[in-house]
Amino acid sequence: MEKLTYTHNDAAAKALAAFYETPPLAYVRSYGCQQNVNDGEKIKGVLQDVGYGLCDNVEHADLILFNTCAVREHAEQRVFGNVGALKKLKEQNPRLMIGVCGCMAQQEHIVEKLRQSYPYVDLVFGVDGIDRLPAMLAERIRKGKRYLEKPAERNAVVEELPIRRDSGFRAWLPIMYGCDNFCTYCIVPYVRGRERSREPAAILAEFRQLVEQGYKEITLLGQNVNSYGKGLEHPIDFADLLNLLCEVPGDYQIRFMTSHPKDASRKLIDTIAAQEHLCKHIHLPVQSGSDRLLKEMNRHYNVAQYMDLIRYAKEKIPGVTFSSDIIVGFPGETEEDFAATLDLIREVGYMQLFTFIYSKRAGTPAAKLPDPTTHAEKAARMDRLLKTQEEFAFAATAAMAGRTVRVLVEAAGRNEGTVNGRLDNNLVVEFKAPESLIGQWADVHITGSRAALLVGELAE
Ligand code: 5AD
Ligand code: SF4
Repeated sequence: MEKLTYTHNDAAAKALAAFYETPPLAYVRSYGCQQNVNDGEKIKGVLQDVGYGLCDNVEHADLILFNTCAVREHAEQRVFGNVGALKKLKEQNPRLMIGVCGCMAQQEHIVEKLRQSYPYVDLVFGVDGIDRLPAMLAERIRKGKRYLEKPAERNAVVEELPIRRDSGFRAWLPIMYGCDNFCTYCIVPYVRGRERSREPAAILAEFRQLVEQGYKEITLLGQNVNSYGKGLEHPIDFADLLNLLCEVPGDYQIRFMTSHPKDASRKLIDTIAAQEHLCKHIHLPVQSGSDRLLKEMNRHYNVAQYMDLIRYAKEKIPGVTFSSDIIVGFPGETEEDFAATLDLIREVGYMQLFTFIYSKRAGTPAAKLPDPTTHAEKAARMDRLLKTQEEFAFAATAAMAGRTVRVLVEAAGRNEGTVNGRLDNNLVVEFKAPESLIGQWADVHITGSRAALLVGELAE
């Protein structure tokens, strides 16, 4: 693994300044997971470092970058649609540069498609290219021809990238990159490369800075945070990293994602129970409730082991809540397999489920499996899953009435004069309050609920 430190590229900044007649604006849009959103924030930071301003309208932009996701086919199609819509803009503004980066650009067939069918795309680079973006832009200008990188695995950790965070009170903090798990349906290990952890000192320094800057919620990111620390010179585990971070004084809370059940330890659960800064909510994707499918998915746990962990957490962490990812319609999923998933979600009682219909990803082992179930059948299963989930979640939400809770106010509410605050357990409450409260803590008395949304009033 390469360890790199970002440095300002003065030559590229000067070349860009000479190219544009007026100070240029960049539009950056990220798709997919939080890791990608955080990469997008770094892309914006790097672009600002070489003289770009930022805008949120493609029509004002001199540079348009789509930071893409490859997890499901639907997301890829959306990107091609959005890129296609830019052709006209390019005709109006010859200095406009258009780029596609991120996970899609790590796949050879995608780069080839962009090369052949989207000639107005100037720049294509993968997930390891952010620190080199200024150099790529400068080269695009200097040579006057497209810069399309062949997907390569650099497996680097780049520290000290400039960053322009989207929020002033909630921050993403990657602690590791890549994935070594090779779940059979998943493209991530192929596009994001091998698992590699950041040094605890680098994480701690960034964490401290965030707390000093007044960030109230910090979410640690990794494809499998529970295997954090492997391969470091002085290996430490994820629970100890949490303990280290929790020593930083301040008024903040920590969340983390994603936890792979096969590596979630009892020590981690004990740590969540012991540390006040840690939210009592665990995102623990199970994917399926069928042992047969879990094996086919290469998940390395079975339902009994998963339930043991859930029971242990419920016992040790009063009021703990869970969320999960579920895949519906994995190749060969039978009615019996699916029924087992429904049983499991009833037994756990998840506050939230992120549900996905299986999407075939070229190059993954599952793509070769026979998949006789029709899309209509899969969609019908999805409906049943959502209904089962709602039964629990709506009742659990309604049962919170009467409590007073502390929330982090995160956005304006849907109704005039209201704001939304997020509870420790990840539920959202809408209540009357001025928007000036966004980004602050508030104590809220819960009065009722509408479906999965709590309603309440500001406590005195
Ligand atoms: N099809 C559907 N869902 C997928 N996920 C990952 N790969 C696929 C796929 N090929 C889901 C998993 C994972 C979440 C981030 O995306 O549930 O946990
Ligand atoms: Fe994909 Fe599995 Fe890695 Fe998650 S743990 S990123 S689902 S391979």
